[in-house]
Amino acid sequence: MKLTPELRNSRFLRACRCEPVDTTPIWIMRQAGRYLPEYMEVRRRVKFIELCKTPELAAEVTLTAQRVLGVDAAILFADLLPILEPMGLDLEYAAGEGPIIHNPVLSASEVDRVRELESVESLSYVFDAVRLIRKELPKDIPLIGFAGAPFTLASYIIEGGSSKNYIRTKTLMYTDPGAWRTLMQRLSASLVRYLLAQIDAGCQVIQIFDSWAGCLSPADYREFVLPHLRAIIGALPGEVPVINFLTGNPALLPLCRDAGGDVIGLDWRVDLKNGWAAVGYDRGVQGNLDPISLYADLETIRRRAQQVLTAAENRPGHIFNLGHGVTPDVPHENVKALVNIVHELGAR
Ligand code: CP3
Repeated sequence: MKLTPELRNSRFLRACRCEPVDTTPIWIMRQAGRYLPEYMEVRRRVKFIELCKTPELAAEVTLTAQRVLGVDAAILFADLLPILEPMGLDLEYAAGEGPIIHNPVLSASEVDRVRELESVESLSYVFDAVRLIRKELPKDIPLIGFAGAPFTLASYIIEGGSSKNYIRTKTLMYTDPGAWRTLMQRLSASLVRYLLAQIDAGCQVIQIFDSWAGCLSPADYREFVLPHLRAIIGALPGEVPVINFLTGNPALLPLCRDAGGDVIGLDWRVDLKNGWAAVGYDRGVQGNLDPISLYADLETIRRRAQQVLTAAENRPGHIFNLGHGVTPDVPHENVKALVNIVHELGAR
């Protein structure tokens, strides 16, 4: 991948490499989401899955969010789960219910139904969107590509949707490690092809969302998740920074670091200062304002953003973000204000 000088020296990519910056870069997980009137305007016309599969619209909402917020990176508008369709799973986004898989893997003997993705051709709408976005994005704004990590995807495949206790997923993992390994390896090989194609189409950074792996103990994470994440991250080109993100379990941070990633995501349940110490200062960190802070008045938001910046101690390698995705009904003016606040307070 060849980077232009503008991208190479962008605030965001400098921070990914732990180099000094003029001010702290910021983007917001789910920045092109339902809190944004411009997004809702598009969503009134098309269903969510259509939006994901129409490159012009996916590009439009990606670019609009970056522009109206003034954030330092854009994130491809897509979702974690459509990669599962060409792998043999029947996915639906039911209005108001979130994603549903109609043919979940209910037992170890059904794992063979999940096909490894040999070709990414059926996901060409994603790469077409990447090319359209890259053409229109400001020259110094990197585009983040992403995928779900194998544990998080496996949990959808096995539970058939979102889950509270991951009972079927963990039971399969605990009782049939061979079937678990097969499933994780198929997902990992598929994810590598998918991510390489995103990079090829024009993404400069990759974030891996292991959103639900925080439900695991350190020993289980080490045995059942870490080797697969390490294989995926190791298969990506070293010059493309990887942000490795999970939520809900600060005890896993040293293991996340061992799995790999140039930048480790921190949610709000850990003090950024302690989280960074656990990760090690040779890596960057991303986070970690509690998303619910954005419902408060601007003075409170400013004070709480300052607390995060203070914990980061102006070290190179901090990317400001929420600790998890922005919530759908938060006032959009507050999200915009946060971006300005961070750029102002983070100035060196
Ligand atoms: O960050 C971005 O702006 C990029 C786009 C993005 C979306 N989903 C768009 C989306 C990203 C990176 C995701 C990731 C994702 N998708 C995760 C990881 C999230 C995290 O924060 O850890 C997960 C678990 C999914 C699966 C998924 N997609 C769920 C559970 C839902 C429904 C829940 C909900 O919030 O309604 C979706 C739908 C979805 N993905 C929406 C958006 C904007 C809302 C759909 C709508 O417009 O109605």
